[in-house]
Amino acid sequence: MLEVNVCIGSSCHIKGSYNVIQTFQQIIEERSLHDRINFKTGFCMKQCQYPGVAVSVSGVKHHVDCEKATGFFLTEILPLTVNTE
Ligand code: FES
Repeated sequence: MLEVNVCIGSSCHIKGSYNVIQTFQQIIEERSLHDRINFKTGFCMKQCQYPGVAVSVSGVKHHVDCEKATGFFLTEILPLTVNTE
């Protein structure tokens, strides 16, 4: 199971974490990835100084521009769902 965690702390909220969450949830729904991705939200990941919304994928921190959330999911998350139990 792939762990994906989107920050909903105040800094990331301002940078568009709501849009990132909506985008990720929509893709998970469309592609029926519920059994492969454990999708969560969490508070500040201490990544506020970076541009973009903090997203942790299996513990690896990324910084996602909310306008590019779909592309990020398809290139960085989707390939990791292969071979996860
Ligand atoms: S509020 Fe998201 S990393 Fe700090």
